[in-house]
Amino acid sequence: MVKFNNIAALTALVASASAQTYQRLGGCPKLGCVLPPDQSEFLPGQLFDLRVEVHAPVNGSEAAHDGKPDEQFKVTIAKGSDAPRDFSTAFGIKDPELEKWNFTWYEDLYAEDAKKPSLVNVASKAYRKLALYEPGTYTVTLEYYSGEKTTATWTVRELVQDKKAKNVVLFIGDGMTTNMITAARLLGHQAINGKYQTKLKLDEFPIIGHQMTHSLDSYITDSANSASALYTGHKSTVNAMGVYVDSSKSPFDDPKVETIVEIFRRVRRGAWGAVSTAMMSDATPAALTGHSRDRYQYGALIDQALNGMTNYSWTSQNGPDVFFGGGADQFVPNSASYQGKDYYAEFAKKNYSISTNKTSLLALGNKEKALGIFCQSHMPVWLDRNVYKDNLKAFKNHPNGSKDPALDLPGLTDMTVKAVEILANRGGDKGFFLMSEAASIDKQMHTLDYDRALGDLLELDQAVRATTDKLKELGILEDTLVLITADHGHGFDVWGSADTKYLSEQQDNRGKRRAVGVYHESGQSQYTKPVDGVNYGTGASFPVNWEPRYAIAAGFGAMPDHREDYKVHKSAPRTPASKIGSEYYAESKDSVNGFLVNGTLPTSEGQGVHSLTDVAVYARGPCQDTFSGTYNNIDIFYKIANCLGLGKSDAGNGEDCPAKN
Ligand SMILES: *[C@@H]1O[C@H](CO)[C@@H](O)[C@H](O)[C@H]1NC(C)=O
Ligand SMILES: *[C@@H]1O[C@H](CO)[C@@H](O)[C@H](O)[C@H]1NC(C)=O
Ligand SMILES: *[C@@H]1O[C@H](CO)[C@@H](O)[C@H](O)[C@H]1NC(C)=O
Ligand SMILES: *[C@@H]1O[C@H](CO)[C@@H](O)[C@H](O)[C@H]1NC(C)=O
Ligand SMILES: *[C@@H]1O[C@H](CO)[C@@H](O)[C@H](O)[C@H]1NC(C)=O
Ligand SMILES: *[C@@H]1O[C@H](CO)[C@@H](O)[C@H](O)[C@H]1NC(C)=O
Ligand SMILES: *[C@@H]1O[C@H](CO)[C@@H](O)[C@H](O)[C@H]1NC(C)=O
Repeated sequence: MVKFNNIAALTALVASASAQTYQRLGGCPKLGCVLPPDQSEFLPGQLFDLRVEVHAPVNGSEAAHDGKPDEQFKVTIAKGSDAPRDFSTAFGIKDPELEKWNFTWYEDLYAEDAKKPSLVNVASKAYRKLALYEPGTYTVTLEYYSGEKTTATWTVRELVQDKKAKNVVLFIGDGMTTNMITAARLLGHQAINGKYQTKLKLDEFPIIGHQMTHSLDSYITDSANSASALYTGHKSTVNAMGVYVDSSKSPFDDPKVETIVEIFRRVRRGAWGAVSTAMMSDATPAALTGHSRDRYQYGALIDQALNGMTNYSWTSQNGPDVFFGGGADQFVPNSASYQGKDYYAEFAKKNYSISTNKTSLLALGNKEKALGIFCQSHMPVWLDRNVYKDNLKAFKNHPNGSKDPALDLPGLTDMTVKAVEILANRGGDKGFFLMSEAASIDKQMHTLDYDRALGDLLELDQAVRATTDKLKELGILEDTLVLITADHGHGFDVWGSADTKYLSEQQDNRGKRRAVGVYHESGQSQYTKPVDGVNYGTGASFPVNWEPRYAIAAGFGAMPDHREDYKVHKSAPRTPASKIGSEYYAESKDSVNGFLVNGTLPTSEGQGVHSLTDVAVYARGPCQDTFSGTYNNIDIFYKIANCLGLGKSDAGNGEDCPAKN
């Protein structure tokens, strides 16, 4: 078995050497594709689809078989060393219909420059809504072109049905790295002679681990497939969630995998909720229930959150008990909402209470299912909501879809604490699952707006503190697994302080850089030093001064051309670069007195991008010890599922949930 695997890996390596920037299909180095691919793992009883494809490249370097895909391919599955069985027979299903299509792809940048895509004809079948209940290894074999084989070894993980935690609160600091946490601590907490007098709530967590964020087919991930890995235990491809990406055109027919929320509802029948400072259709909240290879299908993803899968028979998560965040774009009836429908009304029809501002959110009772949509697009960040409040008036983001500004906005802490109250009440003995996302750590790091990103990180820390206090008050802290992690990072760090006054007054680029104080010239954090006449009323654990003369000197490995003066962007979130023709250049109105930094990215990128780094996992509560060490992002799913005891040894009676009020 081991020997066989090694040979398979070697073949894969040779075959895929020519496709790196672009791939014919991720997870499919040969002309036969099995999705879920080799190395896939499953929770016992987790629902999934299988898609197999046979490719016949018409032209390009792989051209073969006269461009005619083998339609007589065979699929078998074998458990351990048992004899292989026909796949449909083994699952007791009717053999699926043959599907055929074609697609094109560029083999590399030369082919793209020459506008010569390679054309591939495909024959395929999809086997839907399957589950494996017995732990162990399985070998799925696709045989095609008389004798060629693609083999996938699947592992069904151990069966853990013992419930150790009743509730789970999973915080995701989108894009949050250890370096950012360190910088946020420097801004929000005072140190004397190198010793912090107060610390972050995160710093009190007993267990810290490290997770690797790589995608199925690329080592840099985006937020869709990394969220999907955290929620499903399956790796996927950039822009995909809850599915493996196939080569067909439809973004809705790709082979699905069941998510933690769907399994939790199916097995435990508890309550679930999502809170985010992003649009609720954005990748991190949407991936809890979304099954699409295209994260930009915003309207459909909101429909999937409320109504589940409508194209295929699938398990039902019955809609969220709590759904709080931004993204009125998909709720107001318009071209961005699913089929132009009014999703405030669709939720109301299902008996949700609807709030659209902080006042009505805080006034909510704890009995009803609750939808809270507070603005269009992503929510304005903590710094604009709490320090530079006048900026809110410039947003055209009212939750009713008009160009008026949304001024009565809750923060992550308000939304998360309210969500916990409702979920604890609605989940009762069955428990609850809550995901709460600090989305703009990522969004503001993308635009190099360090202050806004770190403000939102401090708000996340505040939300964690308030949530653990609330769980304690409700008497359920010890039954609740609380996790804080990220989906990926950015190459951000701080290397000193910058004398912003000296910097802005020097005349040339090189002279300005003398303002950056490194090593002993970095000095102490000036963000925690009180200044006469400056008081934002934002309380402990936040900077007392956002405009110190000596600011942090920070930046990125991945960035567009931009100008740097290290000052807080008081009047609006930052735009570091803007497009002239088809390329990005330093934005002429940004940091005008700063020095020019030339970018490290393609000139088509106007923002920073995600980076390779592992990210931290903080854990507290039942099963906390299982989160120490270094592991893959998919392991978070298995650790949570095992702590909740979500594995199943058989289909049991009736796998779908009754509707709930
Ligand atoms: C690809 O498939 C479409 C529809 O199935 C067909 O109309 C088209 O001619 C095909 N393209 C090529 C280049 O074979
Ligand atoms: C392959 O064939 C298609 C359809 O005829 C064509 O558009 C494309 O340029 C061809 N690509 C190559 C690499 O020859
Ligand atoms: C599948 O479902 C999505 C929404 O979830 C919808 O937009 C799409 O049109 C459906 N596709 C088919 C082929 O029914
Ligand atoms: C909404 O609530 C009413 C009154 O309790 C109930 O009759 C109805 O079935 C509920 N509708 C849904 C979709 O849950
Ligand atoms: C908040 O929402 C409630 C109910 O939707 C509405 O009556 C009230 O006017 C709103 N308040 C503000 C300040 O917009
Ligand atoms: C949206 O709300 C604003 C502020 O309350 C109000 O002025 C406007 O008339 C409303 N627009 C719509 C379309 O309801
Ligand atoms: C550096 O950035 C500036 C401003 O965006 C741009 O005009 C210039 O071409 C860049 N230089 C190089 C070498 O890329």
